[in-house]
Amino acid sequence: MKYSFTLPALTAALAVTNVFAAPQKLNKRACASPVTLTGNPFTSYKMHANNFYRSEVEAAAAAISDPTKSAAALRVADIPTFRWIDKRAVIPTLPDLVQDIPCDEIVGLVVYDLPGRDCAAKASNGELPVGSLDVYKTEFIDPIKSFLQANANTAFALVIEPDSLPNLVTNIDLQTCQDSASGYREGVAYALRELNLPNVVMYMDAGHGGWLGWNDNLQPGAEELASVYRAAGSPSQFRGISTNVAGWNAWSKTPGEFENSEDGEWNKCHDEKRYVQIFGDALATAGMPNQAIVDTGRNAVQGLRQEWGHWCNVNGAGFGVHPTSSTGDSRVDAFVWIKPGGESDGTSDSSAVRFDEFCGYADAYQPSPEAGDWHQAYFEMLLANAIPAI
Ligand code: BGC
Repeated sequence: MKYSFTLPALTAALAVTNVFAAPQKLNKRACASPVTLTGNPFTSYKMHANNFYRSEVEAAAAAISDPTKSAAALRVADIPTFRWIDKRAVIPTLPDLVQDIPCDEIVGLVVYDLPGRDCAAKASNGELPVGSLDVYKTEFIDPIKSFLQANANTAFALVIEPDSLPNLVTNIDLQTCQDSASGYREGVAYALRELNLPNVVMYMDAGHGGWLGWNDNLQPGAEELASVYRAAGSPSQFRGISTNVAGWNAWSKTPGEFENSEDGEWNKCHDEKRYVQIFGDALATAGMPNQAIVDTGRNAVQGLRQEWGHWCNVNGAGFGVHPTSSTGDSRVDAFVWIKPGGESDGTSDSSAVRFDEFCGYADAYQPSPEAGDWHQAYFEMLLANAIPAI
């Protein structure tokens, strides 16, 4: 995934507030009963540490010769992350992901396969071309729906299509985003309508404070998201937005990382806390639910990016605050790890078809493999720079 955006530079911040969540209170229900989610699901369910990321991390730990570092690496496998359904071929693997899942845990999934995906960048261009909305509906969303229905006794949190609608707000000058626009809107609305199941909660991606947080983007951004939410029939299981997905902004930091930069005065959302508040208010005005989950997976270290919009394998990053529903902010359901730390953001090989120039910038770790592929050196760096230490 990749976002790029047009407005000037600035930013967000650090704040390693409430760290390790105490395990949440669990519903002592039998797994034999169907789940009905209401309210903030993260207060009654623990986030699930899935076996896909576990296998990636176990292999990574085995490749580290220093026993202390290897043991620390292994501990990352117990930290819950989201599993990205980034192509149709992932869907048949999902039953294995939820096998023997404890009844008191909620599984995080990212729905990420829109036609013409990643319209403002190249690193995460997907498998479906513009115009294949029917394929998206019948071969991607419908099978995901069947899977969720077949697992009605398990709770799921879905992040819907990172970057897609934000790109329509700020990158619509690009031909690729113009071509993708109607498919994005109809595809996201279809996903929200069809996946609106009792055992599911949904969050629509809203970029981050350095993207839709610019004064001029707040209202258009809120209206873009809200109109798709309405087109989906205002689904009951929809809670609001995901922010900072695969991002680098601090939750709370004053001044924000780019607050005192040249253009800083044109954006009040200098950390994700302020973004959730200010953009959330705009969403309420536009008539959309505005609870949030915030990705803190890789935001431990600030001051690494040359510009706020740099997004690719930022060099020097560290694992951030662990998933928790103790956010200290009533609008934030949970801090979560949506981007699985150690999976690349994009290749630095300039001869690759999906090479994006952001992955060749001086602040991007190089060399780096294709988006989604395992990046051992980057994983070890995230571990070494983690706050809190792992
Ligand atoms: C990639 C996906 C991958 C996801 C999580 C995205 O940038 O395009 O293929 O699943 O990151 O690592």
